[in-house]
Amino acid sequence: MSTPKKLYIKTYGCQMNVYDSERMAEALSGYEQTQSPDDADMILLNTCHIREKAAEKVYSELGRFKGLKTAKPDLKIGVAGCVAQAEGPEIMRRQPMVDLVVGPQSYHRLPELEAKAQAGEKALDTDFPEEDKFEHLKRRPKATRGPTAFLTVQEGCDKFCAFCVVPYTRGAEVSRPAQQIMTEARDLVERGVREVTLLGQNVNAYHGHDAGLSGLIWDLAKIDGLERIRFTTSHPRDMDDALIAAHGECDKLMPYLHLPVQAGSDKILKRMNRGHTAEEYLRLIERIRAARPDILMSGDFIVGFPEETEADFQDTLDLVEEVKYGYAYSFKYSTRPGTPAAERALVDPAEADDRLQRLQALITKHQRQVQDDMVGKTVNVLFEKPGRLEGQMGGKSEYLHAVHVDDAPVARGTIAPVKIVASSTNSLAGRLA
Ligand code: SAH
Ligand code: SF4
Ligand code: F3S
Repeated sequence: MSTPKKLYIKTYGCQMNVYDSERMAEALSGYEQTQSPDDADMILLNTCHIREKAAEKVYSELGRFKGLKTAKPDLKIGVAGCVAQAEGPEIMRRQPMVDLVVGPQSYHRLPELEAKAQAGEKALDTDFPEEDKFEHLKRRPKATRGPTAFLTVQEGCDKFCAFCVVPYTRGAEVSRPAQQIMTEARDLVERGVREVTLLGQNVNAYHGHDAGLSGLIWDLAKIDGLERIRFTTSHPRDMDDALIAAHGECDKLMPYLHLPVQAGSDKILKRMNRGHTAEEYLRLIERIRAARPDILMSGDFIVGFPEETEADFQDTLDLVEEVKYGYAYSFKYSTRPGTPAAERALVDPAEADDRLQRLQALITKHQRQVQDDMVGKTVNVLFEKPGRLEGQMGGKSEYLHAVHVDDAPVARGTIAPVKIVASSTNSLAGRLA
């Protein structure tokens, strides 16, 4: 048997790209993965197009590989993911050393594309093919793996928020059939997985099961050995009653919900084409908290969206104050070519920076309060990896807080009750309870 070639994959962007990178590595069966680009025979960048900076990173990273390619002309360089989808031919023009470009919906064709690149041709595929890529990918290998895994159940987006590239880079909403997901989840559990996070750009619009996402969650909950279920990212408009109820009734569904709202001003929400008001979002959270009082809420925000005034921004701060997120991510608006908002006048960049700082300060304060409130409580930790100190083990609580325990004689993959004794910037310290 010939020695396998080496593949270096670098992943940017969202969790869906993390999942796709795993599947792409599996699809390239003649390769084994390496952690360094220096000894690679193929470098694959799995890219993100969500903000300008993310997209520009790809070109600077490619620039860095020039030397490697000169030293080793057989080295193949590929670009996958959302920049590949949005700018495929332009990537080839701007960086002629790129051999292969593959979009997120066509990576089941990677083996053919790789063969083409090996034959010295340029290989580009950014189709949205009719066939289901998951049906064309090999069954996943059975090697053991860590206790947590991502599992993509839905892709694409039909919401067309005015700022967002995802509907263009990922295409229309498509749900994977429930049976396909059940099979993949059982395989993951056989390999040691205890927790799956179901992924989709609009995961709660999932319709591959007669009873939607909650139906899938209830089916997954019947799998022995699968202890925890999470899902991300949800859209407020698709949070149906059954899914809210599942948060109160399904023990395996973890009390953490990422439910981005983006802004607190109705005027801005309307211009963003979000399809709901701030009040509707707040009432929705009330209903979710009624079903599961201890749920930890998480969200995303954009500041400096075109025409956002100081008063609009104040509405965002007020909404954040009311919800008190356990985690929240905030971004300065970035113009994305081809989106409806790209035509609109920008907020003064210095003003937008200032708003971002003020919002982040408030979010950080709440995050810390929520974390500090855990001290004295007993949480359940899924242990994932040894900590920095001898005997230390770390993992995540049901609320997704990072927790570490000293002298913890527990194996990776164990779920055990832990009493929280201290809270620091990014993690909690606990004792086995
Ligand atoms: N489907 C998810 C979002 C995916 S993108 C949802 O609807 O919530 C992740 C986050 O990136 C978004 O929630 C938004 O806060 C941010 N984002 C998207 N486009 C952006 C842009 N043009 N500028 C700045 N932030 C953006
Ligand atoms: Fe983008 Fe909006 Fe779709 Fe989320 S819901 S992926 S922000 S268009
Ligand atoms: Fe980025 Fe594409 Fe994900 S644009 S956030 S990698 S869907």
